Amino acid sequence: MRTYVITGGTDGIGRGLAMHLLGRGDRVIAVASGEARGRALLEEAARIDAADRAVFVRADLSTLPGMREVIRRVTQVTDAVDGLVFGAQRFRPQREETPDGFEFTFALAYLSRYVLGHGLVAALERAPAPVIMNIAGPGGLPGTIHWDDLQLRDRYTGMRASMQASRCNDLLGVDFPRLHPGARTRYVLYNPGFVRTGLADPLPAPQRIILKSLALMFAQPVRKAIVPIVRLMDHPPAEPVAAFFRHRPVPLTGEDFDRERAKRLAEVTRELVGG
Ligand SMILES: NC(=O)c1ccc[n+]([C@@H]2O[C@H](COP(=O)([O-])OP(=O)(O)OC[C@H]3O[C@@H](n4cnc5c(N)ncnc54)[C@H](OP(=O)(O)O)[C@@H]3O)[C@@H](O)[C@H]2O)c1
Repeated sequence: MRTYVITGGTDGIGRGLAMHLLGRGDRVIAVASGEARGRALLEEAARIDAADRAVFVRADLSTLPGMREVIRRVTQVTDAVDGLVFGAQRFRPQREETPDGFEFTFALAYLSRYVLGHGLVAALERAPAPVIMNIAGPGGLPGTIHWDDLQLRDRYTGMRASMQASRCNDLLGVDFPRLHPGARTRYVLYNPGFVRTGLADPLPAPQRIILKSLALMFAQPVRKAIVPIVRLMDHPPAEPVAAFFRHRPVPLTGEDFDRERAKRLAEVTRELVGG
């Protein structure tokens, strides 16, 4: 039995993966902030006779105590983690600050992946073919890192914050082998393309309706979107880090994957999270 930790495992792509993995006999630790969807996942797991292999950890991954609590809970449940999937996200049209003083999207969509990915390396390395599956936006919409204003205090837009988090995740992935030389854990940066999920729910009415209509026409259903993700987790790439847009490999070239920028971001981030 393999063990997977899935942030955002109670909705959208994360939930689709959780149910698929439970259905085939694996253990899933799903992390999310909302109790109701967590309970619903456990009920669904019970319906397919997987109650004893489904764990829900309620934590707010936009906060440092929430991130650290997840590491603590996961290591209580298991010694080894076969797969760590990052899927927690929540679009914020207006700028919000977390109790730790970070911009919300920066904290949830990037910092939590930094803290959990590095914090769970020892557990990953105990598995036979461990993978970190960082579901974000490599090779997708352009975006930039605002080095002088990482917390986006000036000129905030939800899109700018999401795109910055995506670029930070690109650098987080390429920097992983430098920080963990010789690790067996494979780091996959994965862009699922447009997928029909609750992604648009936090948007104001006009944009929400437009995005939901577009999703009906152009987005993939979750059951289809998870197929290449599961394949990559079952057959991790040979290279320590690789990026994909759906099935298509994304070359790790250019500014988005620049090793020096990756090192710079890691250093800034280490300061922010206090080591
Ligand atoms: N859908 C797409 O078209 C698309 C495209 C490109 C990339 N992606 C990426 O794919 C991943 C999954 O996206 P999705 O559309 O499947 O997401 P989704 O359906 O919106 O689900 C998001 C999940 O994150 C959890 N979450 C939200 N805030 C949280 C918090 N503060 N702490 C812990 N968990 C939290 C949610 O549960 P709670 O609200 O209960 O906490 C939920 O389980 C994301 O990384 C996204 O950026 C998606």
